[in-house]
Order: sequence, then C-alpha cells, then structure tokens
Amino acid sequence: MEKTTALILAGGVGRRMDSAIPKQFLSLGGTPIVSHSIKIFELSDKISDIVVVCHNDHIDRMESIFSEIQAKKIRCLIPGGETRQKSSFIGLKNCPPGTEYVLIHDSARPFISISMVDDLLSAARESGSAGPVIDNNDTVIETSEDFISKIPERDSLKRVQTPQAFRYDVIVHAHKMALKNGTTSASDDCGLVLNSGGKVRIVRGREENLKITSGLDMELAELIFMKERNLSPQG
Ligand code: CTP
Ligand code: MG
Repeated sequence: MEKTTALILAGGVGRRMDSAIPKQFLSLGGTPIVSHSIKIFELSDKISDIVVVCHNDHIDRMESIFSEIQAKKIRCLIPGGETRQKSSFIGLKNCPPGTEYVLIHDSARPFISISMVDDLLSAARESGSAGPVIDNNDTVIETSEDFISKIPERDSLKRVQTPQAFRYDVIVHAHKMALKNGTTSASDDCGLVLNSGGKVRIVRGREENLKITSGLDMELAELIFMKERNLSPQG
C-alpha cells in the first residue's frame, strides 16, 4: 500500500455559524463534527496517517477528541493559518516523510464514506488529482451590483466537495505556484491544481456530505446523522 495521508483542515473559526466555539467542535449526534470524518479515515485501510491543522486556540480541545475516539493514525496536530489555503499548505508541509498521496478534507464535512475515499484515491492514482462532485440543482447567477449580469448554463455547473485527493508532489507544486502568483485565499485545492496547469478528475460525491456552514445546516446534519446511523450495520 502506498503511503497516504488524510489532511484534515480545522483551522477556521466558523464566522458564519456564529457559535461560541468553531463549528467543527459542535456536537453532532453526541460527538464533535470533526470526529466523524476522523473516524472514517481511521477505519479506511487506504489511509496510513492523519495530519490535523487546528485553530491555535483549540489545540487542547482537539487533543481530547483524539483520546476520546482512541485515534491511532494521528501523526501531527499543528496550528493553522489565516486562510484555508494557508492552513492547507501548512498541513501539506507537515505530512509524514514519504507521503505519496494526500486527501485534503474540510473538518466541517462530517458525512464522508469509506467508498468515497477508495474512489477518490483510484482516480488520483490514474490522473494525479480528483475531487468529489455533485449536481447543482439551483440556477446559479452572476451579479453586478443589484442586477443579474449572467446566467451560466446549469448542466455544466457542478458542486465540488471534500475530501480531494492528490499525488503529493502535484498538490505541493500547485500550492507553490499559487503563492508565486500571489494567490493566498483560494477556497479549494482542486482550483490550485487547475491554475497550475494540472488536470483534476471528477468522481461522484455524496449529497449527504454537506459542508456545515450555518445553523440550518446543523439541523439538517442531525437528520442525516440519524439516517446514516440507521443504514450502518452497527445500527
Ligand atoms: N479552515 C482552515 N483554516 C482557515 C479557514 C478555514 O483550516 N484559516 C477550514 C475550516 O475549519 C473548515 C474548512 O477549512 O473545516 C472549510 O472552511 P469554511 O467552511 O469556510 O469554515 P470557516 O472558515 O471556519 O467558516 P467561516 O468561513 O464561516 O468563517
Ligand atoms: Mg471560511
């Protein structure tokens, strides 16, 4: 098995959620949001190591979560940067030596699956980079001041989720190119690969794998949690 690191980004403060603690630490089905994806990476036989980038004020909180869930694959816990892109690059630089593939994941997405990890890594092995994608049901508009300026064709517009899978050298190169070009606040790693001239394969994402952003998302996440629990073999 090649050496594959799951890099979990938990360096944000969850400004849009407006809660006392960053959203990745809010309880979902009785355990913190971030613990749900860590558990899947722990269970996946494709993941050898886990690196977590965490907001500086919450390192202790994160360490207690690792003990609580008896995580075995955590190799590094490190403070993040002021943008997601910076946190991602910090995490990449702290992946264990010899990492060949990396899955970069938003801690705010608790509903990943083992088969999704498998599909993403297969695609990244073939193409260098891969992202999970779902259809976009709304018409998306571009605006200019108070008016619609353009309506792009809906069928070609999709939504990309995380985890996103990369050959390690491909994503490190993309981050270095971005910094060289003055980009510091990209919201997603696939975009950096595209901008560096690379290709990104798409694989099927999961509707359930929402990114928890607002209070309403928390309510939805509780419902998804109950649905997934009823489907899981453990009950
Ligand atoms: N993230 C990070 N470092 C940052 C900003 C974001 O590691 N400086 C992480 C977040 O913790 C989150 C993921 O990137 O898991 C996606 O970001 P987002 O959903 O925007 O989370 P926040 O930035 O925390 O939320 P907000 O934008 O509402 O402040
Ligand atoms: Mg943000």
